[in-house]
Amino acid sequence: MFAVRLITRIAARVSETLCESRLGVVYSGWDLVVERRAGGVLVTLPALQDPRRSCLYSVINVTQGTTNGLYSAAADIVSATTGRVLLLGLGGGSLPFEMAVRGLPNELIAVDASREALDVTRRFALADDGVTTCYVHARAEDFVDRPAPPGGYALVINDAFCRLVPVGNSVHFVRRVRELLAPGGTYVVNIVFPEDVGDAVKLVGSEFETVERHAVEGSSNTWVVCKLSKK
Ligand SMILES: C[S@@+](CC[C@H](N)C(=O)[O-])C[C@H]1O[C@@H](n2cnc3c(N)ncnc32)[C@H](O)[C@@H]1O
Repeated sequence: MFAVRLITRIAARVSETLCESRLGVVYSGWDLVVERRAGGVLVTLPALQDPRRSCLYSVINVTQGTTNGLYSAAADIVSATTGRVLLLGLGGGSLPFEMAVRGLPNELIAVDASREALDVTRRFALADDGVTTCYVHARAEDFVDRPAPPGGYALVINDAFCRLVPVGNSVHFVRRVRELLAPGGTYVVNIVFPEDVGDAVKLVGSEFETVERHAVEGSSNTWVVCKLSKK
């Protein structure tokens, strides 16, 4: 098995060297690879392009300060938030990068089940300082069971999923998110396929006062945005 992985990895590297736009691999881990491409573009993708190991694919243009449409849409949605933000699914750090370009919230706590995702984001997208930006190695479904910090979160973003299966697809999870939020707080969930949006809206509908759908232009994704009342 190891030999197969090694040969596949070497073959992938050889094909990369033949591709002009790939300037070099700047990170090579067990699960993830980061490539530097032309024009200041950093691409994080699963090692061996095996989606069973990770579903992470992130593109950050460091020169232009942009990511892709999915995360610029999310940053637009959440940009007005002040207060503490919890991101479930840090991944390659596209969203924190977009948020930093637009002005970070007062406090960002981001969680990922993959240590490599935390490592890659620290190095290439946005470093954490353990005070206003904290990255935590944990499963989202465990993290939401922890007690809320004083005052709760102003915003919880759920972008944790693997093999396109979302994490947090249960009444218990959504209820815990609601309990972690401050009054007037917002919960934002990434739904990958249009056919899943109806069920996602139904799941959050009983816990939140308002639920809106923001379909992302040029992709299949929808950000479902749920709000609590201010009382
Ligand atoms: C689409 S990526 C997140 C992209 C990221 N939000 C960004 O801005 O680049 C999904 C992430 O969810 C993580 N993940 C998968 N299962 C998880 C779980 N149970 N708890 C926390 N994170 C999980 C994966 O490791 C992966 O990094």
